[in-house]
Amino acid sequence: MTPQGPLELACELACRYRAAVAGRPAAATAGVEEMNERLGGPTPEAGRPAAEVIAQLAAATEPGLMSSTGARFFGWVIGASHEAGVAADWLASAWGQNAGNHVGAPAAAQAEAVTARWLLDILRLPAAASVGFTTGATMANFACLAAARNAQMRRAGWDVELAGLAGAPPLNVFIGDDAHATVFCALRYLGLGTATAHRIATDAQGRMDAKMLAARLAAAPGPAIVIAQAGQINTGAFDPVKDIAAACARAGAWLHVDGAFGLWARAEPGLAALADGLELADSWATDGHKWLQLPYDCGFAIVRDAEAHRRAMGISASYLPPSDALDYDPSQFVPELSRRARGFAAWAMLQTLGRSGIAEMVRRHCALARRLAARLEDVAEIEVLNDVVLNQVVLAFGSGPQEARDARTRAVIARLQHDNVCFAGGATWHERQVMRVSVISHPLLEDDIDRLAGAIVAAVRATR
Ligand SMILES: Cc1ncc(COP(=O)(O)O)c(C=O)c1O
Repeated sequence: MTPQGPLELACELACRYRAAVAGRPAAATAGVEEMNERLGGPTPEAGRPAAEVIAQLAAATEPGLMSSTGARFFGWVIGASHEAGVAADWLASAWGQNAGNHVGAPAAAQAEAVTARWLLDILRLPAAASVGFTTGATMANFACLAAARNAQMRRAGWDVELAGLAGAPPLNVFIGDDAHATVFCALRYLGLGTATAHRIATDAQGRMDAKMLAARLAAAPGPAIVIAQAGQINTGAFDPVKDIAAACARAGAWLHVDGAFGLWARAEPGLAALADGLELADSWATDGHKWLQLPYDCGFAIVRDAEAHRRAMGISASYLPPSDALDYDPSQFVPELSRRARGFAAWAMLQTLGRSGIAEMVRRHCALARRLAARLEDVAEIEVLNDVVLNQVVLAFGSGPQEARDARTRAVIARLQHDNVCFAGGATWHERQVMRVSVISHPLLEDDIDRLAGAIVAAVRATR
């Protein structure tokens, strides 16, 4: 018998893992210390057969894996790495394509170009917008905001691409108090600073006050970027984008939307009331590895003014075939040159789910989030703190003074995680300790939500 090669072995191990994931604990049972022991050791001196190494890797890491592809995982905002995307991603790795340039990797480039068109159609965004395939929403926000910064400066007569930021005219950035932490990272990477951004107050759901924004914009004429949000990380709330877009239009400001997961609401007609108006923005960041269920990593930087996008991110060098003659070259819209060919997995995922499959999934997840809230809201000592408008549920536990409730909520989270039937994590939300539940894993059904509700109620009882 021929010994199994590393690829065959990896395939077998991966299939076995996926088949068994429903029965695994929800969260890893080993932490970083144990993982360090299992993976650590002296620097390898002599090499070993690859299949042996792969077998050891799988065995060593098993207890340190989160069951985030299964139906008992509700932590952070993590998609389930759908098999279609995983399979296509395996091929991308096996083919070893460098998606940096259309001549160097024509299949990878066109997989992105075609997928970009479908994506814009499904998300109902301008067909002529450019799409950069990034590592995630952090880099998508970064790429979009680079285009925004440079375009706004250009309007003020300043060429950031050539002259940099030293001596540039002031640029005002407006952002809601409950924006995602990574948007502030993007501002930091772009030399725009975080403390100088004008913070706009938000309501109990985390939605920006559009009237305050309009007044602040009017009082600060000149180049400006407004960063709105579709899908607050805890509550799933959307900023009032139509009013925000109107204020931006009056002020000539660039409107960017961070829709890491919320932008996918545009794929579900039943969520039109929430998602309509987002098309008025100038740029949008979203993730593939969240609601689209792509394997890590994949995000999309979408910019209405493709030229502004290309000017901010484009790469040219004498040894690289030029892309001027092409509508689309992947390297023109992302910060990297050499990079993973993400278009294959995205292409496969859109083909596998289709427009209707994405809409069904988003609709199902939102209905399941409402089901969870409905099951819990009348239970003693459980509070549902958010309007469940999307897929996120924010919970708090206990009674009495705030300190006692916060302590109880921490205890319930710890107990739930200790029981390890289902996984959810915590956060601080408007100065309260909360449990956050994210319903975003592809396979989830009603029974899974009922199991989660049962696990939460059990944790509440156990901590009384
Ligand atoms: C609203 C929002 N923006 C940005 C991000 C960052 O996305 P990523 O981790 O894919 O870079 C997240 C991640 O959860 C998010 O929820």
